[in-house]
Amino acid sequence: MTTILNFCLFLIPLCFLNLSTNIFVVSSGYCPTHQESSLLHLKNSLLFNPTKSKKLVHWNQSYDYCRWNGIKCSEGRVIALDLSGESISGRIDASSSLFDLQSVQNLNLAYNDLKGQIPESFVSLTNLTTLQLSNCNLSGVFPTKIFQIPNLQVLDISDNQDLHGSLPNFPHHGSLQILNISHTSFSGELPYSIHNLRKLSTLDLSNCRFNGTIPSSISELTHLVHLDLSDNYFTGLLPSFNKSMSLSYLSLFQNDLRGEITSHFEGLENVTTIDLASNSLNGTIPLSLFTIPSLQKLMLSSNRFEGLLDEFPNASSSTLEMLDVSGNNLQGPIPVSIFHLRRLRFLQLAFNKFNGTIHLDLVGRMENLAVLDLSHNNLLVDANLRENHELSFFPKLSILRLVSCKLREFPSFLRNRSALRELDLSDNHIHGAIPSWIWSFNGTIPKCLITRMSSTLRALNLGGNNFRGQISDTFSTSCALRILDLNENFLGGTIPESLANCQKLQVLNLGNNQLFDRL
Ligand SMILES: *[C@@H]1O[C@H](CO)[C@@H](O)[C@H](O)[C@H]1NC(C)=O
Ligand SMILES: *[C@@H]1O[C@H](CO)[C@@H](O)[C@H](O)[C@H]1NC(C)=O
Ligand SMILES: *[C@@H]1O[C@H](CO)[C@@H](O)[C@H](O)[C@H]1NC(C)=O
Ligand SMILES: *[C@@H]1O[C@H](CO)[C@@H](O)[C@H](O)[C@H]1NC(C)=O
Ligand SMILES: *[C@@H]1O[C@H](CO)[C@@H](O)[C@H](O)[C@H]1NC(C)=O
Ligand SMILES: *[C@@H]1O[C@H](CO)[C@@H](O)[C@H](O)[C@H]1NC(C)=O
Ligand SMILES: *[C@@H]1O[C@H](CO)[C@@H](O)[C@H](O)[C@H]1NC(C)=O
Ligand SMILES: *[C@@H]1O[C@H](CO)[C@@H](O)[C@H](O)[C@H]1NC(C)=O
Ligand SMILES: *[C@@H]1O[C@H](CO)[C@@H](O)[C@H](O)[C@H]1NC(C)=O
Ligand SMILES: *[C@@H]1O[C@H](CO)[C@@H](O)[C@H](O)[C@H]1NC(C)=O
Ligand SMILES: *[C@@H]1O[C@H](CO)[C@@H](O)[C@H](O)[C@H]1NC(C)=O
Ligand SMILES: *[C@@H]1O[C@H](CO)[C@@H](O)[C@H](O)[C@H]1NC(C)=O
Repeated sequence: MTTILNFCLFLIPLCFLNLSTNIFVVSSGYCPTHQESSLLHLKNSLLFNPTKSKKLVHWNQSYDYCRWNGIKCSEGRVIALDLSGESISGRIDASSSLFDLQSVQNLNLAYNDLKGQIPESFVSLTNLTTLQLSNCNLSGVFPTKIFQIPNLQVLDISDNQDLHGSLPNFPHHGSLQILNISHTSFSGELPYSIHNLRKLSTLDLSNCRFNGTIPSSISELTHLVHLDLSDNYFTGLLPSFNKSMSLSYLSLFQNDLRGEITSHFEGLENVTTIDLASNSLNGTIPLSLFTIPSLQKLMLSSNRFEGLLDEFPNASSSTLEMLDVSGNNLQGPIPVSIFHLRRLRFLQLAFNKFNGTIHLDLVGRMENLAVLDLSHNNLLVDANLRENHELSFFPKLSILRLVSCKLREFPSFLRNRSALRELDLSDNHIHGAIPSWIWSFNGTIPKCLITRMSSTLRALNLGGNNFRGQISDTFSTSCALRILDLNENFLGGTIPESLANCQKLQVLNLGNNQLFDRL
């Protein structure tokens, strides 16, 4: 204590005045003018754009440094420093006055351009509980010792694409609660000792280069709320999460995990998102996944799931909003109860081996459904409506894909779907003329609210059918189409002039028809 005091008095005489009243609380690193001069040194050592800065640029000695923007003090010591988004450019090196601020607990330097490697000196800030360095254009190797700052609770170094590093072995009773390393070049394995971080609630390692298996010890993290390991190279079996009762968000998307799902999610009550898409998981999809009471998003696409999907118990009280099981080997009929999931907005069942007949008039009651894709199965979709309530059908439908669904007629309920953005009915057996209401836009007559198709649709694919006759020359003047594919039909006549209204068109395929082209 004496040395610090002397150092302080010697360098900055003013210190004496302040200390005279506070002499008994003086401890290592504390001296108001020392804190102030460290901050001013820091300001002077940093390159920042004064026109963009909202904090640093205003720091000056005409008022108490504890009231400078971005600073929080406790008894004259700087305990929080927030210089995020200050357009700072240039490195922070080991001798920076930043490291004189020994009392700092919360340090936020995110959203700056700190180019290059960050020094190990952060370790000297032993009271740090929060360190935020996301989006700092860091590169080089991240010093492993920073993970071991004794009371560190929050470490966010995300969004530094060129930052390399690996995770250390975590000591017993680690204090980390939130660890975000996403969008970096971190690699190597997730250490078995991860379970020593008993308080861990958020772990985001997404979009990195981690490999190896996910250690089974991760199942011991009972406080986990948010786990994102997506977009890595993890292999091996799916660990169990049935002890992480607070789990709310889980994504293991885009790895190479194997094996079957059994009781991995048994008993979870707060989980809203489970994303296991793009892995190599196999076996049947257990019904227990669908009965998780809080689940909103279930993404299981592009795996090797097989077998039948059972009917869901209690479908009408389900909270499910998004369901994607596309790109698997699921067979048999689509369980009718799927169409009773009232909150469902997104239903993607394409690229499986579902068979049987789907009557759209049983499906059309899904009042929140915006995206429906039944393409590339062995289904027969019957668009012939037995009930006459078209208006109440799919009121929110925005994307409809019924490719290879053995459709025989054009789904007439589409007529009144003004929210429709994308329609793909290619490779079906639809006969007859394309109904003219597909193209025309007649906004002047109230009773024809119906035909807004070409002004709202962005993609229309009717290729590979048996459409005949002319393409109606009534493309809307506000035509929004980007993609128009009528390839492989029996369309005749000329290319309509009003097609010129579709100025955003990027893909136009009218090939393999009997059109007389005069362009
Ligand atoms: C010091 O900061 C105050 C508050 O932002 C400002 O009003 C004043 O002009 C500044 N003084 C100098 C010399 O920059
Ligand atoms: C660090 O925190 C401890 C416990 O709160 C406190 O006693 C100590 O004075 C702090 N160190 C500094 C340099 O502020
Ligand atoms: C990151 O640093 C590189 C090299 O110094 C620089 O060219 C680039 O503009 C920086 N990027 C951002 C987003 O600041
Ligand atoms: C982690 O950081 C990324 C990028 O900064 C951010 O988008 C993401 O939301 C963060 N993860 C969590 C769980 O907060
Ligand atoms: C993980 O990747 C590193 C190279 O980045 C490699 O040396 C190591 O063998 C890999 N480990 C596993 C388990 O695949
Ligand atoms: C589940 O969520 C509720 C409401 O957010 C919360 O009160 C409860 O503690 C959570 N349960 C667990 C096991 O975390
Ligand atoms: C939790 O999952 C593990 C592994 O899948 C399993 O052995 C265990 O029985 C499950 N526990 C419960 C309560 O379902
Ligand atoms: C699932 O894959 C594993 C190998 O990853 C294999 O041992 C197991 O038999 C497969 N299960 C099924 C039902 O095919
Ligand atoms: C279905 O709902 C009833 C009543 O809400 C409930 O008692 C039953 O446990 C639920 N069944 C399943 C499988 O969730
Ligand atoms: C559907 O597929 C299952 C098994 O894949 C088969 O047993 C059944 O006969 C098929 N049903 C129809 C209507 O083709
Ligand atoms: C479509 O909507 C219009 C106007 O609301 C209505 O008159 C017409 O009967 C509807 N068409 C069908 C086929 O339901
Ligand atoms: C709009 O449609 C009505 C009835 O279909 C028709 O009589 C009228 O001429 C059309 N108006 C325009 C501007 O196309």
